[in-house]
Amino acid sequence: IGKPVFSRLIEMEAEPVNVSEFQELARLALPKMFYDFYAGGAEDQHTLEENVKAFQRIFIRPRVLIDVSRIDTSTTIMGYNTLAPIMIAPTAMHKLAHPEGEVATARASANANVIMVLSFNSTCTIEEVASSCNAVRFFQLYVYKRREISAFMVQRAERNGFKAIVLTVDTPRLGRREADIKNKMISPQLKNFEGLISTEVDTDKGSNLQAFASGVLDASLCWKDIGWLKSITSLPVLIKGVLTREDALRALEVGVAGIIVSNHGARQLDYSPSTISVLEEVVVAVQGKIPVLFDGGVRRGTDIFKALALGAQAVMIGRPVIYGLAAKGEHGVSRVINMLKDELELTMALSGCCTVKDICRSHVTTEIDRV
Ligand code: FNR
Repeated sequence: IGKPVFSRLIEMEAEPVNVSEFQELARLALPKMFYDFYAGGAEDQHTLEENVKAFQRIFIRPRVLIDVSRIDTSTTIMGYNTLAPIMIAPTAMHKLAHPEGEVATARASANANVIMVLSFNSTCTIEEVASSCNAVRFFQLYVYKRREISAFMVQRAERNGFKAIVLTVDTPRLGRREADIKNKMISPQLKNFEGLISTEVDTDKGSNLQAFASGVLDASLCWKDIGWLKSITSLPVLIKGVLTREDALRALEVGVAGIIVSNHGARQLDYSPSTISVLEEVVVAVQGKIPVLFDGGVRRGTDIFKALALGAQAVMIGRPVIYGLAAKGEHGVSRVINMLKDELELTMALSGCCTVKDICRSHVTTEIDRV
């Protein structure tokens, strides 16, 4: 308390010890417009706050006198072995955080041996990311009104060795992010689309993000279109953005390969539920038939442990990766992933779980259990 900001900053420069210190470094490193773009959520940001706070209402039931001298955090996701049940969520425009953009993030994911999901709205091309390193990568897809553009992106991802398509289904339009409107945040040239769509921007007119999105996104996309997507690719298709048992059951009916419980980092519909509060509802509906992945508000190893106990096969992390990238480039992303992995390992040891499979429902108590 009372320490000058400057000396606190130097301490953090030396060694951020958790995700929130990385966030603070990112805030200091980035222009306000970009930091707000990354950190912000929709409208009153009620869901943004809840995504993190809902984790704080879940407690861990540790078991004791179990031999925890060896802990193994490794797991298998969609048939691929990874260091930990942690994946990199698709987030847009990494070059606004660091000049090396998604290539730096991809290298860090390869070094850490975790799966990266590349955003459709990346600032490095699919080909640049694919040739930068060897790692298991999935490709996140938006469906455009001009379907041939989305189909072309799927083909490029497949040709470049991506292993799955993650279709984001919570974005028929862009959510209202008021910081971006105030800051006149603009969409930069997205290199993947060069020659395909106009990404011309007029900086004098204020933020163009919503107008750009509603110009290109196909708001008529619906369940029957999963069939279309499956017909144009041999890759497994996962859907990202499911928050209810009803939609989980529809997803099973149309034959997706996996579900991601996500509210888009609270950037779309404010007052959608925090993701951790609906994870179990989806898991129960799915009955283990396909993998259920999870994202939203994961900032600690204990959060990962809680999501796994409630039935997620793995978690994806969005903003923490960007904060690592903005603060320290590729090294920062590696540190964030390894920090979360180490925190998970410690949580497992202190809870009596030697492997990821040992983490089960009886290791947590939620608000529902306490009524
Ligand atoms: C996102 N997210 C996202 N999702 C997606 O499917 N395609 C995208 O291009 C983006 N872009 C994007 C940009 C930024 C700046 C953020 C913060 C998020 C959502 C993302 O995949 C994920 O659902 C959330 O980020 C998870 O929440 P946390 O980990 O950020 O709390």
